[in-house]
Amino acid sequence: MAAIHSISRSPTVGPSAAPVAGMELPMSKIAIEVQKLELAFGERKVIDGVSLDIPEGQFLSIVGPSGCGKTTILNLLAGLIDVPHMGTLRLGGSAPRLGDARIAYMLARDSLLPWRTTMENASYGMQIRGVPPKTREARARDLLRRVGLAGFEDIYPKHLSHGMRQRCALARTFALDAPYLLMDEPFGALDAQTKLQLEELLVDLWQQEQRTVVFITHDLAEAIAISDRVVVMSARPGRIVADLTIDLPRPRSVRELQKEPHFHELYARIWQTLEQGWRHSDDE
Ligand SMILES: Nc1ncnc2c1ncn2[C@@H]1O[C@H](COP(=O)(O)OP(=O)(O)OP(=O)(O)O)[C@@H](O)[C@H]1O
Ligand SMILES: [Mg+2]
Repeated sequence: MAAIHSISRSPTVGPSAAPVAGMELPMSKIAIEVQKLELAFGERKVIDGVSLDIPEGQFLSIVGPSGCGKTTILNLLAGLIDVPHMGTLRLGGSAPRLGDARIAYMLARDSLLPWRTTMENASYGMQIRGVPPKTREARARDLLRRVGLAGFEDIYPKHLSHGMRQRCALARTFALDAPYLLMDEPFGALDAQTKLQLEELLVDLWQQEQRTVVFITHDLAEAIAISDRVVVMSARPGRIVADLTIDLPRPRSVRELQKEPHFHELYARIWQTLEQGWRHSDDE
């Protein structure tokens, strides 16, 4: 059964991986740390006391209503925005900074460069980070094979389907060998079938290459199927209203899970917390 740690309005719900009272988890085991984060854009309060400890190697998803601050949290972690805020953020013990090589960021739009082939796109991030040509070619080729794009290495993005472009973006993301993956609705614009394939691929890659992942999605089924833990945020100003361990066994097959009664049970329970979170909006 899922451990539902809290379905409360408290802004500081303890994370599922938190140690039992009195048993401190070693600091080195916490990969990403967000403490009492509060942030406003002008007069508009967007994030209201979010605290989150993410252990190394955990696959965590964040779900929550549009505008509750999910992307803002990822952008802060990646150092992409620098806005005044209360609280602290840490990755591997250090403050976020732009261009941090420990981070790979993947978005809903593939953002492939149209003048580069699949191979050149898959190795682009490594090129920027100074990986030698032979190493990056071998790594990109391997990743492209693993995402099902063998034979498409010399094709340009305009000749790839949307799903294939996202496969290429996934290969590029994993090719970076970054310990922290920040993923903002990477499959949000895909049709249901293609999405399932990509989720399956992501789970396979992650199971082979254990990274710490923060994955944002509006798709609850997706969050449950791929994650170790799902955090539910309220409507703006975003707070954590539930923090749940997904106790489905690994290795997992996203496709097979669709037939599991426990998967649907989890869905119904988390959906309920999401609905509760909708009711706490400044806009109402
Ligand atoms: N640079 C900015 N300047 C001003 N307001 C901003 C800025 N970035 C985000 N916001 C506001 O902050 C709030 C949270 O935005 P954010 O993009 O983090 O939401 P989200 O949870 O990712 O939503 P969605 O699910 O729609 O992607 C919104 O009200 C948005 O208008
Ligand atoms: Mg967003």
